Amino acid sequence: MMADFDIIPATEDFLPALVELDRACFSPPWTSKMWEAELRGNPFSHVLVAVLRARVEREDAKLIGFHCFWMVFEELRLMRLAVQESKRRQGVGRALAIAALEWGRQRGVSRAMLEVRSSNGAAQQLYRGLGFSPRGVRRGYYSDPTEDAVLMEMDSLALPVELLQKTVEEGAAEG
Ligand SMILES: CC(C)(COP(=O)(O)OP(=O)(O)OC[C@H]1O[C@@H](n2cnc3c(N)ncnc32)[C@H](O)[C@@H]1OP(=O)(O)O)[C@@H](O)C(=O)NCCC(=O)NCCS
Repeated sequence: MMADFDIIPATEDFLPALVELDRACFSPPWTSKMWEAELRGNPFSHVLVAVLRARVEREDAKLIGFHCFWMVFEELRLMRLAVQESKRRQGVGRALAIAALEWGRQRGVSRAMLEVRSSNGAAQQLYRGLGFSPRGVRRGYYSDPTEDAVLMEMDSLALPVELLQKTVEEGAAEG
């Protein structure tokens, strides 16, 4: 099936939609000020958004997912990945993750890491499928509710070939 979304770098126009989707997906959510800092204050930070393809040229391009990641020298830190509930299980989350990893790989990043709630099986499954491995637990890392984080890492940014191939076929990875 052809993907019906594009992945593009976020502009500040997306701020309200980012805040809204973040609030629907995370506890505790990032505030508007925090998102603003990611979009224009933090030199390490990059934000990619998934938007419905039919509306990509329009001002009100419909945001269905986002991925905020930091490039800190040779390391990529995946900070925040989310997909609108009604658009899940269609490959949007995987495409957003791959787009960030590809973006980093093209800029010489050699490894990637992230933390994920220990109860978040969906996200852990997604990252495992991309080649991340669990490397440890950070006790009580999250609040609201308090929960451990699983630390996941990928030492070499070599994505499984079939995933790259899939992304190219779907035309889903840009940026
Ligand atoms: C995690 C999240 C981003 C996944 O987005 P998505 O677009 O549904 O993911 P994809 O369709 O690309 O799925 C890719 C793979 O992830 C795994 N996966 C995704 N959702 C899953 C679920 N509910 N249960 C089990 N595995 C799941 C599967 O391995 C899937 O591959 P498959 O569909 O070929 O089986 C989405 O569920 C989400 O926004 N959750 C809330 C926010 C969040 O938890 N973010 C991650 C914080 S680190």
